[in-house]
Parts: sequence; C-alpha cells; structure tokens
Amino acid sequence: MTSRIAVLPGDGIGPEIVEQAVRVLRALDLDLELTEAPVGGAAYAAKGHPLPEDTLALARQSDAVLFGAVGDWKYDHLERALRPEQAVLGLRKALGLFANLRPAILYPELANASSLKPEVVAGLDILIVRELTGDIYFGQPRGVRTLEDGPFAGDRQGYDTMHYAETEVRRIAHVAFQAAARRQGRLCSVDKANVLETSQFWRDIMIDVAREYPQVELSHMYVDNAAMQLVRAPKAFDVVVTGNLFGDILSDEAAMLTGSIGMLPSASLNASRQGLYEPSHGSAPDIAGQNIANPLATILSAAMMLRYSLNAAPAADRIEAAVQAVLAQGLRTADIHENGTTRVSTSEMGDAVLKALN
Ligand code: NAI
Ligand code: MG
Repeated sequence: MTSRIAVLPGDGIGPEIVEQAVRVLRALDLDLELTEAPVGGAAYAAKGHPLPEDTLALARQSDAVLFGAVGDWKYDHLERALRPEQAVLGLRKALGLFANLRPAILYPELANASSLKPEVVAGLDILIVRELTGDIYFGQPRGVRTLEDGPFAGDRQGYDTMHYAETEVRRIAHVAFQAAARRQGRLCSVDKANVLETSQFWRDIMIDVAREYPQVELSHMYVDNAAMQLVRAPKAFDVVVTGNLFGDILSDEAAMLTGSIGMLPSASLNASRQGLYEPSHGSAPDIAGQNIANPLATILSAAMMLRYSLNAAPAADRIEAAVQAVLAQGLRTADIHENGTTRVSTSEMGDAVLKALN
C-alpha cells in the first residue's frame, strides 16, 4: 500500500535540510508518495497565510508530515496570527497530535559536543514522551483576578489550572509503553505526586495501564529528582513519559545533554499514529541559504516517520545506521565540526548518507 507523505519544507534552512531527507526517502525501496506544499514564511510569501487551506488539507490526507522549520526573522513584523510559527500550532491542533516524542541521542563520535563528561553521556539514547495538548498550558479557568479574602485580600492574582482527563493520560501512556516495548523495556513516569493531585491521578493511571504491558518495567520519579538525574546519570533512562509542563522543560534539558541541536529529530503523533516529524531545532535564519546547515536531524526525523507512522522499522534502522556510518567516517557539518574531522556542506552530508545507505 502506498504511504502518503506531505512534505512541508517551511522557511529559513527548512528547504535545504528537507531536500536531503527527501533524497534519502526516495533512495529507499518503499512505496511512498511525496507531495510538497508551502508552510510558514514560504506560505505567507506565496499565499498570504502561514498555513493555507491546501497545505492543511494535504496534511490531513497524508499518513505523515515531514516538516522542516519555520520562523524566518523576515516575518517578525507580522501580527501573531500570520507569523510562521502559527503553522506548527495549527497543524498540531488540526491533526490532534497529543504525543511528542523527543529522542536525545549522543553518538559516541560526538561525545565532546556535550558539556557533560564524555563518560557520563557517550552513547546516550533516551526517549522523552511528552503529552502535548493538556495540562496547565491549556487548563481553564485562567487569568488575573482580584482576591476577595485571605491574607492577600484586595490584591490581584494571576492563576492557571492544571488538569488531565483520564483519556488524555491513558492515550499518552499507551504511546509510551509501546515505545518502551520496542526499546529496552524500561519506562519512567515523571510527576510531582507528592504535591499535586493531578500527578497522583496520572500515576494511578500509569500503574493501571502497565498491567497491559508486562514486558515493560514501570518506575516513577518526581520531576525535581528527574531534572537532577538527567545530568547526573542520564544513561540510566530508557523512555521517560510526562505531562506537558514537565515534558517541555525536561525534553529541552535532555536535548542539551547532547550539545548538538542539528542532530535531534522529533515526532508528534495522534491516536491513529498519523504524525508530524521535524527536527527539534528552528529555521536558523542566521545560516539559511548557505548550504551549511546540518541535515541529520531532519534525516533522522524521516527515520522516525518510517518507524512510528509507516510501519517500516527496518528502513528506519537503515537510515540510522547510515547516519552512524557517516559520523564514523569523520564527516561533520559546521555545527558539529571539531579538529581532526572533515567539514562538509548540507548537500555533501546528504550525499554521504545516501552512499552509506547502500
Ligand atoms: P534555531 O534552532 O533556529 O537556531 C538556534 C541556533 O542553532 C542558531 O545559531 C542556528 O544557526 C543553529 N542551528 C539550528 N539548527 C541548525 C542546524 N540544522 N544546523 C546547524 N546549526 C543549526 O532557534 P532560534 O534561533 O531560537 O529560532 C529561529 C526561528 O526558528 C525563530 O523564529 C523560532 O521561532 C523558530 N523556531 C521554529 C521551530 C519549528 O519550526 N518547529 C522550533 C524552534 C524555533
Ligand atoms: Mg520548549
């Protein structure tokens, strides 16, 4: 069966890096139908809107979206609704993408890029599963009110509401347990159950869902401890699952352990495993159009797409092995270049991955 992929390069370095990922996808012996459409600044320039109807319709009809990046500074003057970044939010909402998968992988060859000691991080391979549509970020009521009584009576107060519906916790739990089952079989659920009711509820449901996954070992950790353990002994983790707020912070912390933003892929999935796959970094307007951006995060995002949305894990393995091979050959784009390695351009890196595939 043909898999339909919407290719949305975006602006900034988006087109350059997506071009390399598309070359890699086309080189695989798979039945893929790739259709390109503008998004972000490129769509604003062409059609006056960062997420045009045609682009949205294409994404909806596809099995997966391969997304580059958006946010060129050229569009900074626009009102918020027309800014390139609105395209990502619009796609997330329209496709119901509630599960954000953020791997933090540090290839042994890049161990010096981390600010942590190589022996602590070399070979790091963890996956953070962040719930993306609930939690205090979207909870109602929220706002600013004047207090009627208590020690601060008459004072103004800002407030937000944290909550999670059972369905929301169960569906992210299943995504995380299934990911753990495919990996080392260890899942750590991060919460603040010693303080928050929402967290105790979350924890109880994790324990309940765990009964369906006897092959996965579930543990629990408070978020403050998790923040410490991520820098003390990050390799002790396999898969981490957590809510929107804690996941926002921990996934950025984990990404920084690797020290190389140009290397990190990400996925956002919905209940039918339709997904949006994109590099963790932005559109890097400072280096756009120079053929120097690192395309590996995007190429690795394409690998995640094959694994999580297109049921083609062997092809994903092949891409990941090819990336590992080019690093072992000493090829580096500018962002990860160090003495003794060979500096290559965006397209040369694509060439090398293609060659390593075969
Ligand atoms: P950024 O990730 O675009 O860039 C941060 C730094 O990392 C820059 O110095 C950049 O040159 C470098 N960098 C990023 N990706 C690279 C790559 N593949 N190869 C080599 N170097 C790379 O973050 P920044 O500068 O904060 O944001 C730029 C724009 O991107 C903003 O408008 C922001 O809103 C947007 N953005 C978009 C995202 C998306 O499309 N999902 C995510 C994050 C930011
Ligand atoms: Mg963040």
